[in-house]
Amino acid sequence: MKKVRFGVIGLGNMGAQHAKWCKNDGGRDVALGAVCDIVADKAQAIGEQHKVPHFTDALELMDSGLIDAVIIATPHYWHSPMAIHAARRKLHVLCEKPLESRIGRARVMVQQCRKKKVAMGVVLHQRTRTIMRKMKQIVDSGVLGELFRVEMVCSSWFRSQAYYDSGAWRGTWDGEGGGVLINQAPHHLDLFQWIGGMPKKVVGMVHTRAHKIEVEDTANFLCDYGGGKVGYLYASTADEPGAEQFTVCGDKGTLVCKGGKLLHGKLKRSVSSHISGSKGSFSKKGEQACTWKEVKLPKNPGGKHLMVIKNFAAHVLRGDALYCPGVEALNELELSNAMYIAGHKDKSVTLPVNGKEIEALIVKLEKQRSTGKGQGLRKSADKEYAKLMKRLATA
Ligand SMILES: NC(=O)c1ccc[n+]([C@@H]2O[C@H](COP(=O)([O-])OP(=O)(O)OC[C@H]3O[C@@H](n4cnc5c(N)ncnc54)[C@H](O)[C@@H]3O)[C@@H](O)[C@H]2O)c1
Repeated sequence: MKKVRFGVIGLGNMGAQHAKWCKNDGGRDVALGAVCDIVADKAQAIGEQHKVPHFTDALELMDSGLIDAVIIATPHYWHSPMAIHAARRKLHVLCEKPLESRIGRARVMVQQCRKKKVAMGVVLHQRTRTIMRKMKQIVDSGVLGELFRVEMVCSSWFRSQAYYDSGAWRGTWDGEGGGVLINQAPHHLDLFQWIGGMPKKVVGMVHTRAHKIEVEDTANFLCDYGGGKVGYLYASTADEPGAEQFTVCGDKGTLVCKGGKLLHGKLKRSVSSHISGSKGSFSKKGEQACTWKEVKLPKNPGGKHLMVIKNFAAHVLRGDALYCPGVEALNELELSNAMYIAGHKDKSVTLPVNGKEIEALIVKLEKQRSTGKGQGLRKSADKEYAKLMKRLATA
């Protein structure tokens, strides 16, 4: 294989971009093999635009022999059937975030790709941001000491009512399978755990505060990592001016990412030695200090989807490490699913999440909160998934 020939499935906002990137910008490793959308006009228009064959049936695309890998950019409920079908045909899988809206199905996707020995990557492209990579590098180096607090505000995801009204699957339990936690915040939930670690337990609230939608537009959560380490996450599509603020505090220092800058506060002595070594009841003058410095970052800010596509192809061709392998993308979904159970059932939830519990909760929420808008949308995808599960059980 000289180049990885991608077949893009779902040619909406993201898929159309993926097709363009694969065709025009992928460099030496990437080619666009074919495109697919259930809407025939869309498939034809984009196929003709890029001079590649087009399909309206994803299975025909997968069986065409024209592609080595799929990019799945359909609504969430199609992600699992598409990925499982692709893996069965030995096609590599690059899936848009989130892997799925339900953790149980996402786990099956990852298992199947592993079983069929095909690569699986996820477009959680914020991992390519230079500032986040630097933050992770500093935390992993141990220079902050043991972390005891992780805090993230990600409310720069403003969406208008018109956005939610723009597609039947948006803002519905049946369609998106969740709100800000499932559609916008997965990138930040991923960074939250990639850099700050995975909590053991979550507790918190979800609200539909400002939009006329079935799902949440605001989420507030506390995380318990054990041993007194805690986390806080706030995500919203109903906040202005909105913010991206990410803080990690450790025994020896603190990192703050805010306004595109990364600040490192270095303590003169660790908090633990200050607590145990100080003779007085309070901190004495000069006994402790924190020196703040802005961390130098490379000029290229990163954060481009194309980097994920190129990296995926390099992984398939030469075994380069993936920015975000499927198995790691499960974590952000564990978090959002745990948050749904915690928020809607008003209880603390221990991770890993019970896959059946989240499936049942989504079905219940769909019935309770339905606006009628998204109803029945995922029926055929669910049927396809059930069929595949039967086949897997008897294989
Ligand atoms: N990584 C990112 O930054 C980012 C940004 C936006 C969206 N996304 C993700 O990309 C995915 C798609 O989102 P979008 O905003 O492009 O949605 P969209 O509604 O604009 O596009 C979805 C497309 O999929 C097509 N489709 C539906 N079912 C299909 C099927 N069975 N076979 C083939 N095509 C089918 C639809 O006709 C539509 O054209 C979602 O997972 C979303 O969360 C990722």
